[in-house]
Amino acid sequence: MFGERTRTVVVVGAQWGDEGKGKLVDVLAERADWVVRYQGGANAGHTVHVGDEQIVLHQIPSGILHPGVRCAIGNGVVLDPDTLFDEIDELVKDGVDVEGRLYVSDRAHLVLPYHKLLDAENPASKAIGTTGRGIGPAYEDKVARRGVRVLDLRHPARVRELVESGVHRANAELQSFGSKVRVEVDDVMALLVRLAQRLLPLAEDVGLLIHRARGAGAAVLLEGAQGSLLDVDHGTYPFVTSSNTTSGGAAVGAGIAPTTIDAVLGVVKAYTTRVGNGPLPTELDEAMAERMRKLGNEYGATTGRPRRCGWFDAVVVRYAARVNGLTGLAVTKLDVLDTFDRVALCTGYTFNGELHTEFPGDVAALEELEPRYEWLDGWQQSTADARRLEDLPHAARLYLDRMRALVETPITYVSVGTRRDQIIGLD
Ligand code: IMP
Ligand code: MG
Repeated sequence: MFGERTRTVVVVGAQWGDEGKGKLVDVLAERADWVVRYQGGANAGHTVHVGDEQIVLHQIPSGILHPGVRCAIGNGVVLDPDTLFDEIDELVKDGVDVEGRLYVSDRAHLVLPYHKLLDAENPASKAIGTTGRGIGPAYEDKVARRGVRVLDLRHPARVRELVESGVHRANAELQSFGSKVRVEVDDVMALLVRLAQRLLPLAEDVGLLIHRARGAGAAVLLEGAQGSLLDVDHGTYPFVTSSNTTSGGAAVGAGIAPTTIDAVLGVVKAYTTRVGNGPLPTELDEAMAERMRKLGNEYGATTGRPRRCGWFDAVVVRYAARVNGLTGLAVTKLDVLDTFDRVALCTGYTFNGELHTEFPGDVAALEELEPRYEWLDGWQQSTADARRLEDLPHAARLYLDRMRALVETPITYVSVGTRRDQIIGLD
């Protein structure tokens, strides 16, 4: 992926999240000098398998598992300091050296206890099926220009003012939800005072650090969280997360110029999953969904919820390729389809008697349409040991060829299992 002229690479999810970005970032981080998270927060669940061990990271970039790689949390992230330090402590216990190579943008906004409470108690969050990590409320405060940023912790009096009005507003909102829970200013302040001592030493101007590193020739990986169809602008609004998950968000959220991005890798599952509510055009009936869920171990890494499952939707991924400017696709979990006697790709939607091949902005249309499928023969043999394209069964290669043609994007990786070595590189 990284080469002489490809120095800054974005990795995004090109479906509804959980595409396997954690594994791809882990593989690519081998050749990176920096790995940077640019949006979202502890709603993410990036699963990485090292040997027999499974590690799930919510807040820290997956690159941290590679010694020597520097990791940063960009200004576009809403940072949950509690999760951050739990994760750091866990990594240190596992023998990962974090000291001196993890940075946090001084401009990142903090997720405070009342954001999580509001997310948990708001009926609107339940209707969307959020992760309950306070993401929406934290971004609301950011956009309303009343958020608490990491750098504010240097000014306790200012933080106290922000927290006082935040708590006041939160309690009024909680009351309006009919909730009995309330927040105390002193509890929030005590937490912040305690965490500030650990957080401030990590605070840096991350955009400037990356700018300088790039100037010195560094390879920089920008790690997206969630998926393109959960983007607040381009996703299935309002069933989305509250940040720009697509590659445009990578520049803004890391604090670098859009023109510095050299490549954008879109990660897709060989099929489709979604957690939470909202349209999923290719959703399978429960018996088939259950089969795919079991084979793919499709349970949320953050919430443990069973994921909804469907066939690969080429309309969705071609749309994601356009809005992200994807230069390559990484297809993950091909092995999950190994036992199916036939497999389907969605090539368009029939709606009001007409065929549509472009993804619509209107969620109502998505609920009513009929997906049109192209069926291909399954391969019914294991792909888990394939390490070159030639090792894959003929039918699996045909499936990937059709996917590439329909999505109009070259495939640069195919992953055939959870382990680091179970991957085919095609570039
Ligand atoms: P929120 O980001 O917690 O506000 O949740 C909004 C929507 O995004 C819900 O449908 C969540 O299930 C979904 N979501 C958030 N984070 C992830 C993720 O990391 N993977 C998959 N879905 C996610
Ligand atoms: Mg995930």
